[in-house]
Amino acid sequence: MSPNLLILAGTTEAAALARAVVQAGLSGTVSFAGRVERLPPQPLPQRVGGFGGVEGLAAYLRAHRVTHVIDATHPFAARMSANAIAACAQTGVPLVALTRAPWAPVPGDRWIRVCDIAGAVAALERPAARVMLAVGRMHLAEFAPNPQHFYLLRLVEAPKEAFPFPDHHVVVDRGPFSAQADRCLMEGHDISLVVSKNSGGTGAYAKIAAARALGLPIIMIDRPAQAPRAEVESVEAVLDWVAHASTALGV
Ligand SMILES: NC(=O)c1ccc[n+]([C@@H]2O[C@H](COP(=O)([O-])OP(=O)(O)OC[C@H]3O[C@@H](n4cnc5c(N)ncnc54)[C@H](OP(=O)(O)O)[C@@H]3O)[C@@H](O)[C@H]2O)c1
Repeated sequence: MSPNLLILAGTTEAAALARAVVQAGLSGTVSFAGRVERLPPQPLPQRVGGFGGVEGLAAYLRAHRVTHVIDATHPFAARMSANAIAACAQTGVPLVALTRAPWAPVPGDRWIRVCDIAGAVAALERPAARVMLAVGRMHLAEFAPNPQHFYLLRLVEAPKEAFPFPDHHVVVDRGPFSAQADRCLMEGHDISLVVSKNSGGTGAYAKIAAARALGLPIIMIDRPAQAPRAEVESVEAVLDWVAHASTALGV
């Protein structure tokens, strides 16, 4: 039996891994949650949509004879990552996470650290400001308690839903972004405050560098806690892990 990988995706790292897997002559499937309508092209077969919790994922792993799971989801996709840990433990399929180190503040940064989205909402209980709210589409409704602000939103696709705050502007764009362009964007909208998840990686760092250059404060949302699991930080390390895990499994 040759390796049959399942890559849990939705990040630029997952896309890079899919390309490397094909180049290495390995087989596998890339899994997307289905949050966006237009998925970026990638070279492996893909599936879209939730598995149905831990039991659904475990059933999928068995039915499709998956030999290795690589969790390359976003650091804030905590439920999917927890489900992967549980389903792999249940089925005995080896799991590794392709992760990125969180960002750390450097001199010039003005971070206000909060534990979660609720903490960011609480930190915005203040007089009206011009806020770049870079938390992704799924969490925007949670900011309804603070409709006094102007919100600059950058989204991957044009939104269909209405937002719970009247004063906003939507930019539809996909990363990676440049610090210079983000600085122009912030200046153009007279932004006074940025809200960001601590996503780590390079693709979304531009707004952090731009805020630093402009002396703007950032409400920085810490990552959700994650149960212990094997982790690597590069595509090459995933391929090494696959080779070693395959030897151990005899596949
Ligand atoms: N959260 C972010 O800030 C963020 C940013 C950029 C990209 N993304 C990507 O967007 C996707 C959804 O993120 P989220 O924060 O909503 O995740 P989440 O809260 O951890 O996941 C919620 C549910 O969505 C399904 N799901 C999530 N990722 C999946 C995948 N790759 N393949 C199949 N099903 C998946 C699972 O449903 P079942 O329980 O039914 O299996 C999971 O229980 C992830 O793939 C993530 O990589 C997230």
